[in-house]
Amino acid sequence: MVSSTRQALDAAVDALRAAGISDPRFDAELLLAEATGLDRAYLAAHPEVEILPPAARRFGEMVRRRLRREPVAYITGRKGFRHLELAVDPRVLIPRPETELLVELALELQPAGVLDLGTGSGAIALAVAAELPDCAVIAADTSAAALEVARANAERLGLAERVRFLEGSLPPDEDFDLILANLPYVAEADWSSLQPEVREWEPREALLAGPDGLDAIRGLLSDRVRLLSSYGRKKAKSADRIIALEVGEGQAAPVGEILAEAGFGEIEVRADLAGIERVVIGRP
Ligand SMILES: C[S@@+](CC[C@H](N)C(=O)[O-])C[C@H]1O[C@@H](n2cnc3c(N)ncnc32)[C@H](O)[C@@H]1O
Repeated sequence: MVSSTRQALDAAVDALRAAGISDPRFDAELLLAEATGLDRAYLAAHPEVEILPPAARRFGEMVRRRLRREPVAYITGRKGFRHLELAVDPRVLIPRPETELLVELALELQPAGVLDLGTGSGAIALAVAAELPDCAVIAADTSAAALEVARANAERLGLAERVRFLEGSLPPDEDFDLILANLPYVAEADWSSLQPEVREWEPREALLAGPDGLDAIRGLLSDRVRLLSSYGRKKAKSADRIIALEVGEGQAAPVGEILAEAGFGEIEVRADLAGIERVVIGRP
């Protein structure tokens, strides 16, 4: 049966709302645009347009996936981050807008070399590579599966020559003057209160970090030998050694303390657009 855009959308919105999806119309519009190959604005302006059966079937399948609380980005297979469109799937965290603060910091500092620690889809590393053409970029992740996604994104975006990918954590023998790290920071106690989209679909190892959510950050900063040998190894001045960590709500103060204990003399905290203290920067 052929139905109009409006009929298809209204039915999907009702079903998504009943399933507890927080912004059902927005999601339904995105999925309909994906299923029909038509622009969202065009669909909104032409609610009478007929949806042909193949597109209607695709839309129905996408809505069924969304009803199981699969995130829209995994259904469409992509997510925008700065100027890039990244392929994403459940092997990687879906990049969040607040993580763009780390990229903005790199633009501000104009480092010679950046390490993106915990690269996931490659979001930070690839954005830095695209926006700072003279910066040497390394992307590391302990998850081999995530690195596959990041490497494929680099290839597709024509940035594969610009980023070196390493499996593991802090690399001991590399030169970079800025570490940007969005490591896992969810506390175990907060796990059950996360949205099903996060808890049931995104990789656990990209999110969870012990009882207070700080295990991954503590682990990184306790590795003093690597931390110090990594920083400016081939540089004469230690003044270039900067680390910036994304953190969760309420974690900026304890992370600042951990950075101070690790020997960083100057600590700065930056808030995201929601006013949440989101990035902690440590300078020597
Ligand atoms: C919160 S996700 C961030 C992904 C990506 N940077 C982003 O912002 O969208 C954390 C990533 O760090 C990786 N990871 C966890 N512990 C790590 C560690 N100690 N060293 C390197 N990567 C780690 C996870 O596999 C995951 O891909």
